[in-house]
Amino acid sequence: MRPTETPILARFWYPLIPAAQLADGPKPFRLLGRDLVVWRDGEGRPSLLEDRCCHRTAKLSKGFYHNGVLACGYHGWEFDHEGTVVRVPQRPVDKQGRTNMRVASFPCAERYGYVWGALAEPLFPIPEFEEEAEGFRRIDEFYEPWATSGLRVMENSFDNAHFAFVHRASFGDMGHPEPAKSEVEEFADGFVFRSEVPVVNPPMQKELLRMAEERTVRHMTARWWMPFLRKLRIRYPNGLIHSIVTAATPIDDRTSQICQWVYRNDTEADAPAEKVIAFDRQVTAEDRDILESTDPDVPLDQTGREMNMPSDKPGVIMRRMLRALIEREETRAAAE
Ligand code: FES
Ligand SMILES: [Fe+2]
Repeated sequence: MRPTETPILARFWYPLIPAAQLADGPKPFRLLGRDLVVWRDGEGRPSLLEDRCCHRTAKLSKGFYHNGVLACGYHGWEFDHEGTVVRVPQRPVDKQGRTNMRVASFPCAERYGYVWGALAEPLFPIPEFEEEAEGFRRIDEFYEPWATSGLRVMENSFDNAHFAFVHRASFGDMGHPEPAKSEVEEFADGFVFRSEVPVVNPPMQKELLRMAEERTVRHMTARWWMPFLRKLRIRYPNGLIHSIVTAATPIDDRTSQICQWVYRNDTEADAPAEKVIAFDRQVTAEDRDILESTDPDVPLDQTGREMNMPSDKPGVIMRRMLRALIEREETRAAAE
């Protein structure tokens, strides 16, 4: 699957940029190969527009905030949050006002500290995370581009067969490569995957978990939302919950913007955010290194380009669900 050639992917919400980054001016973001500008108007509304001025094509992300709207950095035309030109500074004062000149605008919302965007009417709402209602603390972990496809990142999150090898330096146990048993429950917008995974408890983890045992068990409830969003809720035997949200926002066919934050039911005094991030950084770097070596073009059909084993089931279901969605969309488009 090449995301930029898969029109249905325009109809999903993706986290684009930490909202705090919009304070000092507009920021560029490439989503599904399309150059966009993300900014916030004087009333606090986030806005997502095409990053190309309708006057002489300059990037609006090189502009600046002026009187609560977005001014192009080239000749100063001003745009409101819907992309309409509301002022052309070169015109006489009595000729100012809203015009019918505009740039394309896209669905935009702010949740969980991020500005989210879609390129067309979203099929599903932005997911609700139960950890928000439970009052867990939220720790922002990573915001960085990876040279891999979102689908590889998603499949890897549900792959119980890789821990022993990819994570052999952190919590994996090469002596026990048999994948843990799991069950999958499907929904219209994805699935939930439950399993119990025995793992080793390295020194840094013992401190973060406040557990002295050499080995422990992760009760994992992992939710996948099509196409590239996942929450992995891990509960340890002592009641600690570490719930990781990872989005692999598609920049283009080969690159994903990784947005990751974690919810925990403990306090900063129990486990400092800095240490939580440091442990997840090691684990994430292990995944990144191997994922960047994979082919970003993931086949959605089972034509034998890739071989399977039973523990690949979640990834196989992802491919099947995405293929079904694409086929439904193609049928609908053909009927129009
Ligand atoms: S190019 Fe944007 S105002 Fe001229
Ligand atoms: Fe991993």
